[in-house]
Amino acid sequence: MADNSEQARRIGIIVNGATGGVTNTKHLSHVLVPIIREGGLRLENGERLIPDLLLLARNSARLKEVADKYGLANWTTDLESALANRDYPLYFDAANTGGRVERVLRAFEAGKQVYTEKPLAENVSDAKELVAAAEKSGLKNGVVVDKIYLPGLKKLKHVLESDSLGRILAVNINFGWWVFDGQDQPSQRASWNYRKESGGGLLLDMFPHWVSIIHHLFGDIAEICCQANTLIPERWDEEGQKYRVDVEDSVNAFMTLADGTPVQLSTSWATRVHRKDLMTIQVDGRRGSAVATLHECFTQSLEDTPKPYFDPEHKQPMQFEKQWQDAGGSEPFVHSFRTGWEEFLSHVALDRPFKFDFEAGLQIMQVIDAGYTSIEDRRWEKVPQ
Ligand SMILES: NC(=O)c1ccc[n+]([C@@H]2O[C@H](COP(=O)([O-])OP(=O)(O)OC[C@H]3O[C@@H](n4cnc5c(N)ncnc54)[C@H](O)[C@@H]3O)[C@@H](O)[C@H]2O)c1
Repeated sequence: MADNSEQARRIGIIVNGATGGVTNTKHLSHVLVPIIREGGLRLENGERLIPDLLLLARNSARLKEVADKYGLANWTTDLESALANRDYPLYFDAANTGGRVERVLRAFEAGKQVYTEKPLAENVSDAKELVAAAEKSGLKNGVVVDKIYLPGLKKLKHVLESDSLGRILAVNINFGWWVFDGQDQPSQRASWNYRKESGGGLLLDMFPHWVSIIHHLFGDIAEICCQANTLIPERWDEEGQKYRVDVEDSVNAFMTLADGTPVQLSTSWATRVHRKDLMTIQVDGRRGSAVATLHECFTQSLEDTPKPYFDPEHKQPMQFEKQWQDAGGSEPFVHSFRTGWEEFLSHVALDRPFKFDFEAGLQIMQVIDAGYTSIEDRRWEKVPQ
């Protein structure tokens, strides 16, 4: 095998949405800038792949601030000229969800390979258009999937693969926290998340995560029944203007997996946290149970399962949390977004297989569309396989 250990290869990446939240707190700060500072991503063949970033957003003052913060020289507010620039063959879309389809179609037309934040599109028909455009262009394509690489979920995956839980009986996912309305206190989420026209809505925004997690850990989703609410109907935007929320900010969902396993999911931007972490996934099996948080995983075997007593007269004597074992498994920490990027960049540079292409993004959209139909029609909806 050739020794490529001294070779370095540059890859030009347009980063659209460079001033945005997820770009700054994850993609730039924890992935792309560290890779540049490390002298490139070491590929399987020994070469180093060095990202050269062209930052793109609409506000030049904020864009310059971001570029300066990370010591990056190249930025522009002009999508057209960025797409025309042949030095940057890879387009990354982390701008807001609304308008993604048009931006990505333009990127393919310009001959760019595309990596995009989730969701791939706002509905199935747009997602199909993107899959068709990707196939026609023959260009590499991928959608960000990051949550499955969280340490707690990786540990849960090991537990499931060890078969120690026996037959899986049911899965229960809880997620959410309080997002301020912008008046009581500044909101932690941008206002577009609460407006339909800009791609907002909790089902569209959060179910790409839940569906990829469920597919990865448990299997395909056969049917879904959702109940959605707009619990905080008025919010205040970045300019302090009051607006009406026209999308859901909480969703309760029931799903049945292809093998019949029931999954229950509660996810809300209007709840206060009284559980071990912002997200918990409980899996009950015939021979044991497991609970994953973002970073940890705990198990309880059949032998260790307590027999609690429902006692109206006395406070509960058992400390249930203490009856679980730490599943351990401390691999070196790798940022979950970095794993996604490393896999996509290996796909681009070395043609390694990549699971989360636009076709996978379309499958996720099929579940989300079925969820919206189920809300409208107030019934269970089958997910097209
Ligand atoms: N994988 C994850 O965990 C995760 C987390 C958060 C957000 N996201 C996704 O990332 C994307 C951005 O979310 P965010 O929370 O960073 O949003 P944000 O509002 O913080 O940033 C949005 C960015 O898009 C730009 N933008 C806004 N409107 C635009 C328009 N009309 N045309 C072009 N650019 C526009 C803004 O200038 C900004 O740079 C969304 O698609 C969201 O679903 C993913």
